[in-house]
Amino acid sequence: MKGYLTTAALVAVVAGLLVAGSVIALAQIARNLPKVKEFRIERAMPKEAVACIECHKREHPGIFGDWARSRHASANVTCYDCHKAESFDPDVSKEHYKQYERRDRPYGTKEYRVPVAGVVTPKDCSRCHPDEAKQYARSKHANTQQIIWQLDPWLKLGMNSDFERASGCYHCHGTVLKKMKDGKLDPETWPNVGVGRVNLDGSKGSCTSCHTRHRFSVMEARKPEACGQCHLGPDHPQIEIYMESKHGDIYTAHGDEYDWNTAPGTWTAGVDFRGPTCAGCHMSGAGTVLTSHDVTERLAWESQAPLTIRPEDFKPFPAKVNHEVEREKMKEVCKQCHGKTWVDDHFVKYDKVINEYNEVYFKPAKKMLDDLYAKGLLDKTKFFDEELEWEFYELWHHEGRRARMGAAMMAPDYSWWHGFYECKKRYNSFMEAARDLIKHKKKAYKYPDFPNATGNTTRPAEVFRKGK
Ligand code: HEC
Ligand code: HEC
Ligand code: HEC
Ligand code: HEC
Ligand code: HEC
Ligand code: HEC
Ligand code: HEC
Ligand code: HEC
Repeated sequence: MKGYLTTAALVAVVAGLLVAGSVIALAQIARNLPKVKEFRIERAMPKEAVACIECHKREHPGIFGDWARSRHASANVTCYDCHKAESFDPDVSKEHYKQYERRDRPYGTKEYRVPVAGVVTPKDCSRCHPDEAKQYARSKHANTQQIIWQLDPWLKLGMNSDFERASGCYHCHGTVLKKMKDGKLDPETWPNVGVGRVNLDGSKGSCTSCHTRHRFSVMEARKPEACGQCHLGPDHPQIEIYMESKHGDIYTAHGDEYDWNTAPGTWTAGVDFRGPTCAGCHMSGAGTVLTSHDVTERLAWESQAPLTIRPEDFKPFPAKVNHEVEREKMKEVCKQCHGKTWVDDHFVKYDKVINEYNEVYFKPAKKMLDDLYAKGLLDKTKFFDEELEWEFYELWHHEGRRARMGAAMMAPDYSWWHGFYECKKRYNSFMEAARDLIKHKKKAYKYPDFPNATGNTTRPAEVFRKGK
């Protein structure tokens, strides 16, 4: 009955609109109507999918056990639903066909044979999670290969070796996956679950960066440790900053009472947790702000950059946002637990820190560096092969970031002792050495045996296709 009335009302509205000739308005109304969801859980599964589970249960109890405890298993999402491939897919595992020639094993026969891929990409997940995949695809996480190859002197000038990159940079940022002649994945690029992994199907990223397989749990991703594997250390110590903040203290004291496992999108500040985690501020929904897999949302500054700028002005990958809107979103998160004055005043202080770093430390140091290059006292062809280049780098890349991020995320020790205090020291020694070169018209000492400056300097073609 209810359905009948709704349909009748709809027909009336539609007819009315058509009479009015407003096709655009019609489209808008249609978009605002709830989607008709097709949703049913079928317990049955094809025999090929039974084979995966049964054989792998014996072969890899670790994989089976994780999957069996996941929400995927509850919803009857099987191994085959994620690892299914077409025989012509670039990432199909040719090796795996051999598993169907094992008469010694139940299910090890031809009748269960299907193509399988070892790599499961955001594109594969997007079949069932289109929104998360779409948001992720526009984030700096997904696009980090494009960003780092435009910016980074280690890569652009080949100042470290390919192996140093594989064991360091690409572990966090992601590899460009490659296949070898025999069809197997190139071990220099695999395994890898970096945030910006470039997959063979052209998609970017790896959802396992935060949701490790095969639990794929929201609980894990909501905890700060999920981010801390990459967000740590001297140049981006977010996990240390967090653990030092009051919010981190509260997590340490009360985290085991938080309800980490509430349904996606329902994790509620003040109800399920009393102090936010990284995800709580940067990703999870709060008030009118929706959950997002684009971590660039809610940011009003690029505080990792040498000169702090707005996200929309970040040249290598300009964010399609308005920083004022994003700032309001972040404030909305805070306001789940704090009053307006508390929140506004926090950001007044943070914005002043940004301004002070930019004007007092970065700009004069940068001007001095440019002067030295112009006068020929420093050599621009390479970076890091002269002492003052390291000093300048650490001023913005290490200490300057710590000062800014410590202030953003309420960690006074990072903002001052690891931050501005170190900036002052570095600034003074940098300026002193620079003035000395200028005074004596002396060229800087160059390290003649700079180790391992052997890395490939060609931008990956998979990322920088023609016209980009
Ligand atoms: C008869 C046993 C058997 C069956 C059936 C089977 N597998 Fe496997 N599979 C294995 C074994 C054993 C390995 C590990 C091979 C190795 O370690 O070299 C493996 C490896 C894999 C890998 C890793 C491949 C790679 O290239 O990294 C994936 C993914 C996988 N299986 C998924 C599946 C899926 C999905 C199914 C069902 C469509 C399935 N398997 C069916 C035994 C089986
Ligand atoms: C929700 C999707 C999903 C489901 C369901 C799933 N997998 Fe996976 N599997 C992945 C992802 C993602 C990876 C990690 C590879 C990557 O990062 O691309 C992976 C990796 C693997 C690997 C290689 C990892 C290793 O450590 O060697 C094997 C083997 C595998 N899966 C088997 C299975 C089996 C067996 C099942 C069912 C019991 C299963 N998978 C269910 C997504 C899935
Ligand atoms: C065949 C459809 C399907 C595919 C493919 C699929 N999922 Fe899911 N996923 C589901 C369903 C159904 C649920 C349960 C409903 C929910 O919690 O959102 C779910 C839940 C989840 C959750 C929430 C788990 C929790 O603890 O609440 C995460 C995270 C997730 N999936 C990640 C992934 C990732 C990453 C991939 C790709 C590697 C993937 N899914 C592939 C259907 C799928
Ligand atoms: C431990 C993980 C990790 C390693 C190793 C690592 N990075 Fe990063 N990198 C990060 C994180 C996290 C950020 C984000 C910093 C921020 O926003 O505060 C980042 C930021 C960057 C940026 C700035 C991007 C921007 O948007 O401005 C560049 C460039 C970069 N890394 C290049 C590299 C290179 C090149 C290497 C190796 C020589 C490397 N990274 C090693 C995790 C890592
Ligand atoms: C940077 C870490 C991170 C990465 C990478 C990531 N997720 Fe998530 N994901 C989260 C967090 C945090 C949540 C929990 C949000 C909340 O509190 O509800 C989540 C929640 C989810 C959920 C539950 C529904 C929802 O939106 O809350 C799904 C489904 C999901 N992720 C799928 C994916 C897929 C698919 C990918 C790859 C395209 C992916 N995730 C990559 C951190 C991540
Ligand atoms: C596997 C490594 C890895 C993990 C895990 C990871 N990140 Fe990142 N994150 C990065 C890298 C690398 C960058 C820098 C990307 C760039 O700018 O090129 C980054 C950048 C960011 C940024 C800055 C975005 C911007 O627009 O400047 C935020 C915010 C962020 N991550 C939050 C998170 C949160 C929250 C989590 C956990 C839920 C998380 N990350 C997990 C590697 C990681
Ligand atoms: C109380 C909320 C809160 C928590 C908790 C939090 N952050 Fe932040 N984060 C912020 C704010 C606010 C900023 C500055 C936003 C701006 O620049 O407008 C920020 C900035 C960042 C940036 C710098 C982004 C850029 O490009 O300038 C990264 C990266 C980041 N956070 C990652 C993390 C990680 C990882 C964790 C957990 C270890 C975490 N955050 C915990 C609120 C939080
Ligand atoms: C889930 C609730 C929650 C959220 C969300 C939250 N906070 Fe807090 N915050 C707290 C609690 C609880 C305290 C401890 C207050 C006290 O000292 O008694 C706190 C403390 C603080 C402090 C005091 C730090 C100190 O060391 O004195 C500041 C500043 C702060 N929060 C700012 C923010 C900002 C800015 C945001 C948003 C980016 C935010 N908070 C988001 C719960 C929250």
